[in-house]
Amino acid sequence: MKGIVVYDTSYGNTKTIAETIAETLKESGIEVDLFDVKNVKKLSGKDYSFLVLGSPTRFGTMSFAIRGFLGKVKSEEWVNKPFAAFDTENPENIERARAEKKEWSAAEKISEKLRDKKMNELLPVLKAVVLGQKGPLKEGEIERTKDFARELAIKLKEDTV
Ligand SMILES: Cc1cc2nc3c(=O)[nH]c(=O)nc-3n(C[C@H](O)[C@H](O)[C@H](O)COP(=O)(O)O)c2cc1C
Repeated sequence: MKGIVVYDTSYGNTKTIAETIAETLKESGIEVDLFDVKNVKKLSGKDYSFLVLGSPTRFGTMSFAIRGFLGKVKSEEWVNKPFAAFDTENPENIERARAEKKEWSAAEKISEKLRDKKMNELLPVLKAVVLGQKGPLKEGEIERTKDFARELAIKLKEDTV
């Protein structure tokens, strides 16, 4: 089993979350490749058994580059394969979504698109909170990300039994 973790970032916060997920999966004995979305030229479902995809939230949705990457995830190659989605967003964004009962999260939009491709979502999305446009990450978010990745590792191992 080998997976791919792909992220976009402008100020480094989403990169930090992606690195934390990749490192934690490795510590759990799961092999992963980690890519900045700008460096993914070609993607083949034959090379990977699962996908972890994350984006900064931009205007209530995923970044342009992540939307482009989703076009490379061919449903015939990825059908039934496990995935998890994450994003970074501001606390106000989470409050707004709660108040309006509408999703403004990049991770939720990614999740919807991958479920449309008949991929198998292993756990609820991770919304990592950043303060302001450039960050930093809110205190405790790295620990929460490690918990998310440990949970993901357990589900991945169950999924391949
Ligand atoms: C053009 C632009 C639009 C943004 N729109 C949102 C938004 O709708 N909701 C939100 O929570 N944060 C928004 N942000 C803040 C970003 O989410 C934040 O910069 C990002 O999470 C930081 O991640 P990064 O360091 O990986 O780039 C926006 C930032 C920019 C630059």
